[in-house]
Amino acid sequence: MTTATTTKTKAKPALKASGGKTRLLKELIPRLPETFNDYHEICLGSGALFFALYQKLEARGAAAYLSDLNLNLITTYKEISKMSDEFRGKLESFAEHHKADPVGYFNEIRAYDRDSHWSDASDATIASWYLYLNKVVHSGMHRVNSDGFFNVPLAKDGPKGNKYPRKEFKWQPENLELVSQALRGKVYLESVSCFDALENAKPGDFVFIDPPYADKAGDCFVEYLASGFTFDDQRLLRDAYAAAAKRGVWLMMSNHADCAELYSDFNVEEVDGLRGMGYKGKAGMVTEIFVRNYGY
Ligand SMILES: C[S@@+](CC[C@H](N)C(=O)[O-])C[C@H]1O[C@@H](n2cnc3c(N)ncnc32)[C@H](O)[C@@H]1O
Repeated sequence: MTTATTTKTKAKPALKASGGKTRLLKELIPRLPETFNDYHEICLGSGALFFALYQKLEARGAAAYLSDLNLNLITTYKEISKMSDEFRGKLESFAEHHKADPVGYFNEIRAYDRDSHWSDASDATIASWYLYLNKVVHSGMHRVNSDGFFNVPLAKDGPKGNKYPRKEFKWQPENLELVSQALRGKVYLESVSCFDALENAKPGDFVFIDPPYADKAGDCFVEYLASGFTFDDQRLLRDAYAAAAKRGVWLMMSNHADCAELYSDFNVEEVDGLRGMGYKGKAGMVTEIFVRNYGY
């Protein structure tokens, strides 16, 4: 066996997500339960915690159940796991065309979901469209208008006062190959709401939940999907969390500090974190909480 096959390079998240948890991994990892059976990540986004843990899960033979209500996001992960020639060819073509005319090409591709034939698009088309937009908009922002159409503008790069439209679509083929390998095996991807996903967790499993940060005043960015996420949804999520805890599931959730009052029966800790795009498009400091049903 060569060194290249024995030293496995780790996959990094293939997508960026507003509110992604990469910057909080150093806080989250020490707070995992000591032992658990299968792993669940709900409201997956970029899946920062899964990609930090997947090699250890594989080594233990634990299954990973990854879910998000955003069907396009889940379709993209499924296509990355298959890495078909059709998908790869589309990504190569998008990169070439974008370089030739960044603004014109971005406007053309972004409008795909407004086309009346979009519902017939192949999964490879949907996934390449989603990955392209994720990489050429600011911080992978995902926002849709009230009709459910993607409406984030092309990112601008360069120094203040001399900014230019993002010139390249960097799809990082080597990392995508590693992500593809990470998603094969005992990894199950599903487009499902956080409420339903919680019901699937069995006693002894561990669930990480990172919902949209719906606060009481309605100031936080929650428009990932046309359905949004309200403080009433936070109450429903608390009920699903409490029911899973009662069944013997290990749970860790990150959330907005406004939700602390909903979890007074659990282990709530405050963490100061910069949440990118936290407040209606402006990055700002948000006091976040971690809620666990263990580690008291
Ligand atoms: C804060 S982001 C998750 C970020 C992720 N932890 C990461 O590290 O990138 C919230 C995610 O919740 C998803 N979402 C929104 N409403 C949902 C719902 N009702 N059920 C499940 N997922 C939902 C969004 O599509 C988005 O991907």
